[in-house]
Amino acid sequence: MGTVTTTGAYGPWGIVAGGSDGVGVAFAHGMAARGINVVLVARRVPVLESAAAEIRARHGVEVRTVALDLGAPDALAELAGATAELEIGLFVYNAGADVRSVAFLDRDLDTHLSLVQRNCAAVLEAAHRFGAPMVARGRGGLVLVTSGAAWAGGATLATYGATKAFDLILAESLWAEWRGSGVDVLGLVLGRTDTPSHRRLLDAEGTASAGGQVYEGLADPTDIAEEALAHLADGPTWIHGSENPTGGSPFGALNRRDSVLAMSRGAAGSS
Ligand SMILES: NC(=O)c1ccc[n+]([C@@H]2O[C@H](COP(=O)([O-])OP(=O)(O)OC[C@H]3O[C@@H](n4cnc5c(N)ncnc54)[C@H](OP(=O)(O)O)[C@@H]3O)[C@@H](O)[C@H]2O)c1
Repeated sequence: MGTVTTTGAYGPWGIVAGGSDGVGVAFAHGMAARGINVVLVARRVPVLESAAAEIRARHGVEVRTVALDLGAPDALAELAGATAELEIGLFVYNAGADVRSVAFLDRDLDTHLSLVQRNCAAVLEAAHRFGAPMVARGRGGLVLVTSGAAWAGGATLATYGATKAFDLILAESLWAEWRGSGVDVLGLVLGRTDTPSHRRLLDAEGTASAGGQVYEGLADPTDIAEEALAHLADGPTWIHGSENPTGGSPFGALNRRDSVLAMSRGAAGSS
């Protein structure tokens, strides 16, 4: 099992795409605590700037912010330009949650396509643009955050689940190609997690009952980031919260039809 203990393997700079709250900012704190300077990417400038200020104050590393929409087609080119003079040794692509579980035809086509742009095209572009110099250098790390929704299709999860399956397969494939190159790739599979984004989804779906019990049992973003940073070299896949985090799909030997029906029943719980 590998651990990240120095900036040597994964520094001197890291990028967290979707790094201003939830799992992303937890990664940024974890990286900064290990001496890695961080670039945070997100859309809402006040949230981004306050996350950056807290990381600077707490860890004393350099922090830069790049405000952009990862769903815009030129986002990764802009990010590469904004960080051109930095040596990026770790890239965490975290942004990826859906705002709501909704039937496929009840959502307009542009919204589906923008999810695909942020969760697939931009992830691929990040891996290509930032992975190439890492492989050339012979060191680095790439974390693609994915979801239990990647394990099988499910009603109201069509585009989200498909994009997360894309991320899982992309991470596993790059792990297979880059193993031995010095660059660690991890496909990080998450279940329900206590993030601002997930709370907004629960609230929008009216599942946030009085007393907030619905928030109980959600995974903790800091636990996730710490575990993932400790296991960057234990890819291709890390399933947070599983008894066997490097094991297979929780659907095991179920046939595809039963897996899809089970996923459909638990749709809200798997995003
Ligand atoms: N939370 C869960 O229960 C859960 C379960 C399974 C998997 N996951 C996965 O875990 C990851 C993190 O999820 P999350 O719940 O923390 O929510 P998230 O919305 O994916 O991530 C929040 C962070 O990403 C930024 N972000 C979101 N969309 C962006 C965009 N278009 N451009 C730039 N930045 C963007 C947010 O800032 P701005 O909003 O200001 O842009 C914030 O910094 C996702 O990949 C998700 O699929 C989460």
